[in-house]
Amino acid sequence: MIELIRKRRSVRSFTGQPLEKEQVALLVETLLRAPTSRNINPWEFVLVDDAELLSKLSTAKLHGSGFLKGAALAVVVCADETKSDVWVEDCSIAAILLQMAAQSLGLGSCWAQVRQRQHDTQITAEQFVQDLLGIPSQIRVEAIIGVGYPAEKRTPLAADQLQYAKVRHNRYDILWKQ
Ligand SMILES: Cc1cc2nc3c(=O)[nH]c(=O)nc-3n(C[C@H](O)[C@H](O)[C@H](O)COP(=O)(O)O)c2cc1C
Repeated sequence: MIELIRKRRSVRSFTGQPLEKEQVALLVETLLRAPTSRNINPWEFVLVDDAELLSKLSTAKLHGSGFLKGAALAVVVCADETKSDVWVEDCSIAAILLQMAAQSLGLGSCWAQVRQRQHDTQITAEQFVQDLLGIPSQIRVEAIIGVGYPAEKRTPLAADQLQYAKVRHNRYDILWKQ
């Protein structure tokens, strides 16, 4: 796991090769094994592999969602907000586990933020995605994770780039030392 964590970078360029059924099944299993507050499992996921829908999803925002057009799979990470007040946290955990599982399968992925973002001056990115995919209004959309075979090689963050000054020891005014 630590090797996967060291090498993980967001991948926004994909070869176009479709995923194997088994890979998708492993990704789904990962999502459904994610821990949730009080084990409520408020999340729901829409798997999109239709090229036309991927292309439309890529326009969910003016900036930052374009890479979804080239993804083999987009996982729309949603949750029923009436089931849990911490659905955002639950969705985030499922999403990052999905990204790590994708990496472990030799795939690349990137997060496209939807919640709190605009599609244009009139409608939110969330409304756009809900309308496009027929998602009911109480099923909130947090993010879309684009997944595919990487067509770019990202350099892992070097150890000396890590922001150790953000880590404190016992008290906020004492830096943690290795
Ligand atoms: C909550 C969250 C929202 C993000 N939203 C977007 C996004 O909308 N579009 C995008 O291209 N990348 C998005 N990213 C990816 C970040 O830009 C990326 O993780 C960050 O620049 C660090 O790069 P790395 O993942 O390669 O280490 C998001 C990441 C997180 C955690």
